[in-house]
Amino acid sequence: MIEILEKLHEEVTGRLERCGSPQDVEQIRVDYLGRKGGKLTALLRGLRELPAEERPSAGAELNRRRGEVETLLETRLAELRRQQEGAREGGARLDVTLPGNRLERGRIHPLTRVTDEIIDVFTGMGFEIARGPDVEDDYHNFEALNIPRDHPARDMQDTFFVSENHVLRTHTSPVQIRVMETRRPPLRIIAPGAVYRHDDDATHSPVFHQVEGFMVDRNITFGDLKGVLTHFLEEIFEGDVRVRFRPSFFPFTEPSAEVDIGCNLCRDVEDSCRVCRGSGWLEILGSGMIDPNVFDFVGYDTEVYSGFAFGMGVERIAMLKYGMDDIRLFFQNDIRFLRQFPP
Ligand code: DAH
Repeated sequence: MIEILEKLHEEVTGRLERCGSPQDVEQIRVDYLGRKGGKLTALLRGLRELPAEERPSAGAELNRRRGEVETLLETRLAELRRQQEGAREGGARLDVTLPGNRLERGRIHPLTRVTDEIIDVFTGMGFEIARGPDVEDDYHNFEALNIPRDHPARDMQDTFFVSENHVLRTHTSPVQIRVMETRRPPLRIIAPGAVYRHDDDATHSPVFHQVEGFMVDRNITFGDLKGVLTHFLEEIFEGDVRVRFRPSFFPFTEPSAEVDIGCNLCRDVEDSCRVCRGSGWLEILGSGMIDPNVFDFVGYDTEVYSGFAFGMGVERIAMLKYGMDDIRLFFQNDIRFLRQFPP
């Protein structure tokens, strides 16, 4: 009897060691302690057949062994449960308090931003957007804008030639010609885009951006030019702006005017001002009444129609708006520079 019990105890211990789940432990319980067919249960039942004098000691021994087996089962069960939980935590060791990986959000480039603002102001006044090719022919870039071959006015712009007859457009003014060639007045057009000049320093870039604009109809006067451009500058520089129209020369306008705004940095008192160099004024755009010669090129009757045109540099406006002194910052795409502009 003692030996049988000893053997059963060993069996249970061995099986418990090998088992891997609480379900296995339950199976062992059934095999040894189950009411039907449990091996220890069967021995307990067998007590009746023993001689009366042996029964008490055998019964005590059996109960002690049963108690031991129960404890073994409990202990192993608890151990397996702990292991299972540990595995669950370990498998998904997730610290929900850790900060996440931030996805860097893109920004609108300051030049795109300023271009969009310019477009907004003009579309608000009924202007529509037109575009032209970056590689332009000599006729549209120069000739039809009243800049004949061999005319000294060609020196105003240092030109990249693509071929004998084609250039990278030096300004957006050729879009005026392209639109007027295909359409009749009334016209209110703005033409944003890249332009190219052989120029490279802190305030000049070989590629930069302009917004061209023009308005043609019956009875358009210099007063319309002043009204539209003054309103535009008040919008783009947010109200607090002084505007000055200064006589100038462009081959495609007559008369021509450059438009200045009061220096917003020194308010015209400091000789040393790095923005206006003491003049108190900042040149912001070129403009004028469209030259009758230009209308002749596109076949508009100069007795019926008149119009004004203007062109401005987007980089220059952005630099003044944001207080920048180096144009190259726009093109280096240094993330530290770009981050300064709110999304
Ligand atoms: N095209 C000129 C330039 O690039 C800018 C300009 C001046 C455009 C006067 C115009 C204008 O339409 O009327 O310097």
